[in-house]
Amino acid sequence: MRSNLLLHFRPPAVKEKTLAFTLSWGLGGMAATLVILQMATGMLLKFIYVPTPVEAYASVQTIVTQVPFGRLVRNLHHWCANLLVVVLMLHMLRVFFTGAFHGPRRFNWVIGLALFAMMLAANLSGYLLPYDQLAYWAVTVCSAMIGYAPGIGGGLLDVLGGGNALGPRTLTFFYAMHTTVIPLLMAGLMGFHFWRIRKAGGLVVPRKPSEAVDEAPNRVPTFPNLLLREVSTALMVTASVLAISIFFDAALSAPANPGLSPNPVRAPWYFAGLQELLLHLHPAVAVSVIPLIAGIFLTGIPYLTYPRTTEGIWFASARGRAQSLRAALAAMVLTPALIGFDALVVKTAPWAAGMSPMVRDGVLPLVLFSFLTGGGVMTMRRRWKATTNETVQAVLVVMVTVLIVLTVVGVFFRGPSMRLTWPL
Ligand code: HEM
Ligand code: HEM
Repeated sequence: MRSNLLLHFRPPAVKEKTLAFTLSWGLGGMAATLVILQMATGMLLKFIYVPTPVEAYASVQTIVTQVPFGRLVRNLHHWCANLLVVVLMLHMLRVFFTGAFHGPRRFNWVIGLALFAMMLAANLSGYLLPYDQLAYWAVTVCSAMIGYAPGIGGGLLDVLGGGNALGPRTLTFFYAMHTTVIPLLMAGLMGFHFWRIRKAGGLVVPRKPSEAVDEAPNRVPTFPNLLLREVSTALMVTASVLAISIFFDAALSAPANPGLSPNPVRAPWYFAGLQELLLHLHPAVAVSVIPLIAGIFLTGIPYLTYPRTTEGIWFASARGRAQSLRAALAAMVLTPALIGFDALVVKTAPWAAGMSPMVRDGVLPLVLFSFLTGGGVMTMRRRWKATTNETVQAVLVVMVTVLIVLTVVGVFFRGPSMRLTWPL
């Protein structure tokens, strides 16, 4: 067996069946490649970028117009950031749907969630840096969301340095977080994430529902089997993102003007779902209660009691797959129906106008939400005899489908003053 410095970071041998591309789709490796590209391109951008409201915009213009390959480097940084949101979401779903969160991998799921939060923070803090109209107002909307957090919202806004309006302190704070604190935390957590994979004995071995967990799987040397796969995935991701960056430029609108807000003011697309929720629900519910419930549920997933592990089985069972499909279809129909009902009936009806917003947009939707979730879970457990795994899976499928529908509506179906409209 070969030995070299690189192999100190990798196990000497890996389970043969985990090399199947259809197990992980290379998504974790893609995410790692994108983060490395972000760090490399970010460091290059830092040579020219100036983090002050007066000079930030001009420095980004210098990057794209005067620095050799500056436009390409900025485009790479922009597209890798966007791709990272999608790739991480898919990686998380593959880990979940192959039952790779059971037993020794439980805590790695939690580390993964922390990495996901870091990635969102990196995206949001980076979004402000070009200091154009798009950046300024999108981040204004997002910090307003943060400000709605009951009890701590005001304090958080003070920490962000802006109060009600963004200013020089906000830019300095975001810049420091973006280029130092978040990358260091991410690098540390990624090391921890990879170490935990190794501690768990490698990836889950894919198996059919009828097969037992293979306690002594066949192993093959990491070099060349795993390393070649990792390098080819990294090269393919780099080539794809390079191709996108050559043909599509990252937007740079007019310089930020705190006195002139565009209409509509949109959050970045990965927060469009939250912004859409805010149009329907009381702010305390939309940006606190619901994200809190979602966060607790996601963190708790590996720590629930599962009578049977589904490690390595896609969708837990054939029945689990069918139930997930049903759950996705139900959420796909119900979410747009509820959005339409709220926007076109509740928000315009005279009977609802007299109600307190807390009751109309807070208490009543929460009652409806509990009723639908409780009813769905009870039907699955009692009537369809679903296992804990299958039930948790259906709940996550609903959550993800609702998020996707909210995001699509927020991005494509909202026009001036955030009114519902058909996409042009
Ligand atoms: C920057 C973020 C992340 C990077 C770079 C990363 C990277 C990786 C890599 C390379 C693997 C092994 C192969 C593969 O599955 O493709 C892996 C596995 C894993 N990841 Fe991530 N990941 C990240 C975020 C996440 C997130 C958001 C979650 C879930 C919430 C997660 C949970 C896991 C788990 C539980 C495993 C073990 C899977 C198994 O044993 O089959 N990771 N990750
Ligand atoms: C996961 C890691 C990272 C993510 C997701 C990320 C994301 C972003 C985003 C979305 C932007 C706005 C780009 C645009 O104009 O469209 C940005 C800008 C910027 N980032 Fe990052 N970034 C990351 C890491 C880094 C690192 C490590 C550095 C430096 C060490 C860095 C330095 C910069 C600089 C200087 C800008 C301003 C220039 C510009 O907007 O073109 N970034 N980042």
